[in-house]
Amino acid sequence: MTINVEEMAVFCKRKGIIYPSSEIYGGLSGFFDYGPYGSEIKRNVVNAWWKEWVRSREDIVGIDGSIIANPKIWKASGHVDGFSDLILETEDGKEQIRADHFLEEQLGGNFDGVTSDEVNKLLKKHNLTLKGKKFKECVSFNMMFTTNIGPKQGNIGYLRPETAQIIFADFKLIQENARLKLPFGIAQVGKAFRNEISPRNFIFRSREFEQLEIEYFIHPKQTKCPYIDEVKDFSMSVLSAEMQEKGEKAVSMSVKELLKKKILQEWHAYFLAKNIKWFLKLGCNPKNFRIRQHLKDELAHYSSDCWDIEYKFPFGFKELQGVADRSDYDLSKHIKHSGKDLSLFDEETKSKVVPHVVAEPSLGLDRAILVFLFEAYNDDKKRGNIVLNLHPKIAPLQVAILPLVKKLDDESRKIFEDLKEDFNCFFDNGGSIGRRYARMDEIGTPFCVTIDFESLEDKAVTVRDRETTKQERIKISELKTYLRNKL
Ligand code: GAP
Repeated sequence: MTINVEEMAVFCKRKGIIYPSSEIYGGLSGFFDYGPYGSEIKRNVVNAWWKEWVRSREDIVGIDGSIIANPKIWKASGHVDGFSDLILETEDGKEQIRADHFLEEQLGGNFDGVTSDEVNKLLKKHNLTLKGKKFKECVSFNMMFTTNIGPKQGNIGYLRPETAQIIFADFKLIQENARLKLPFGIAQVGKAFRNEISPRNFIFRSREFEQLEIEYFIHPKQTKCPYIDEVKDFSMSVLSAEMQEKGEKAVSMSVKELLKKKILQEWHAYFLAKNIKWFLKLGCNPKNFRIRQHLKDELAHYSSDCWDIEYKFPFGFKELQGVADRSDYDLSKHIKHSGKDLSLFDEETKSKVVPHVVAEPSLGLDRAILVFLFEAYNDDKKRGNIVLNLHPKIAPLQVAILPLVKKLDDESRKIFEDLKEDFNCFFDNGGSIGRRYARMDEIGTPFCVTIDFESLEDKAVTVRDRETTKQERIKISELKTYLRNKL
């Protein structure tokens, strides 16, 4: 990792990966557009995740719910009353800032869970101002975006602040349609919206983002995770609540040890380890990940325990993915508010049971993309250009077809037409071959195929590997198999 987040934003804009939204009108804070290469990366990350968590498993199914739902959902879930951050506004009303972030910057330490009274006292005690401006009283600010549903004014709707609630509201239908038996999970990928007081760090904290979420339901008595053996020997860097309270540093422990010391229970251990392993499988460095337990006053209103997978961003270790225990909080709330029976019949005890969400792995897609970009970014001084070492499954293009000169376009196009059936290909006949290689390195294309005059004779092409820059002569008839094996 060689650049900071601002430099990454500049790089992403320059290479067509991510732009500030509506830039011609001065942009809009907290909103971004994914460009030609960014939209491909995003699609690839979603596909890799969906394959891992939905298509490869018998116990998890996916849904695609609506962004605006009956507002009663958000009343029942507690978001209308409790989904807020504390805001500080300057006396002239010109500047607003999130109170916990402001205190963190001014006083150091962690102010998650701080109350408005405590903030007001701290402001007074330390005589804190923003560029010399005093603050009004600290108040809480609901982060849900509102809209009007239909033509009648006053019919308030909310843009969903998490994808999770749609899963809870549809729980019974999904369970019946997919004939699911506990334990099982329901996954969803989609947009979420939060009116963040101070969006920051590029796509790390934005107002419109995407989540990759799973609600994993168990019988409340099923404490054993049948998949735990898959991860028992896996080691992670761990920072429990107790360690934080004692001021200790994170230490590496295997899942076996974590279970033995009762730092984690089986389900949580499984989901935390398995999620980190997914990032490692896609080329990330294990040293940049750790798991951190929430302190009691940090927990969200629905959560009884929560561990975050944190990533070492250039601006510090920060939350990449939350894995919360939501117990029966949500289903019970929806049973109460809707009057509908969302319990399941337990064959063993011949009684009804409200399943518990023992783990809710909730990953921010944009944060995951930021991780992959930081991991991949390499300012290669020897080559004289940036190389984005993205895993081939995530890279926006897989193969570039480069005729050495324009005269070879026809022959090259034939190869392009053939390969594009199987790979995401790009045809580029403009500029020197060195410049074209560099352009492909910068957006992470794993392979470049060059067609030269000899190709007309020997029916072979030169394949260049992005990572090593090694070149190999491959028969055109064997090219597809060669690339398939490599990719
Ligand atoms: N359903 C649980 C839930 O929404 P969360 O910790 O509030 O939990 C889950 O959010 C994940 O969504 C976070 O770990 C983060 O990756 C992502 N996320 C949350 N707020 C975000 C924001 N403002 N911008 C980008 N990603 C965000």
